[in-house]
Amino acid sequence: MKPIEELQTEHRAIESSLKILSAICDRIERENLLTNPEHIDGLIDFFRVFVDQCHHRKEETQLFPALESRGMPGEENPIKIMLTEHEAGRAFVRDMAVSMSQFREGNIEALMRLVHNGRSYINLLVNHIRKEDAVLFPLADDRLTEEENARMAAEFDRIEKEEVGEGRHEEFHAMLDRLGEFYVRV
Ligand SMILES: [Fe+2]
Ligand SMILES: [Fe+2]
Repeated sequence: MKPIEELQTEHRAIESSLKILSAICDRIERENLLTNPEHIDGLIDFFRVFVDQCHHRKEETQLFPALESRGMPGEENPIKIMLTEHEAGRAFVRDMAVSMSQFREGNIEALMRLVHNGRSYINLLVNHIRKEDAVLFPLADDRLTEEENARMAAEFDRIEKEEVGEGRHEEFHAMLDRLGEFYVRV
């Protein structure tokens, strides 16, 4: 698989995770309680490891520098915007984790903050993915040479093994299937 296709496939998995998060947020608002906190824990783990340590790392350390070396427009540099959005996403995930600790200490108010941060994260990433799929990835497809693609594919494999670990990807996909079945019936 070409590196860009790999990133696009990961986008589809991230979209599934966001649909699940959205369904959980709806349910919390409807019932004013969280019945399966371990499902949110699993999603937070997915956002930290799969989304950030794996997917965003591939973009930040491989794709973006390769594109920048081909010259990107200065002020309107889309890569700067993408990096800022990755950073904003990390902050929302940190806040969701804080809300979960507070909820476990008996603070019910924390659930509303969880929903608020969860929805902000969903909006951010849905738009972020749309921009990458529509603008940045086609640009990369146009500009990157065979050689750069081959080098990037090898680096992606290394990131998978070192940052995520053998088998982790499959575990995450299995979790998304399970939670998808439970909440979204996809
Ligand atoms: Fe990104
Ligand atoms: Fe991405």
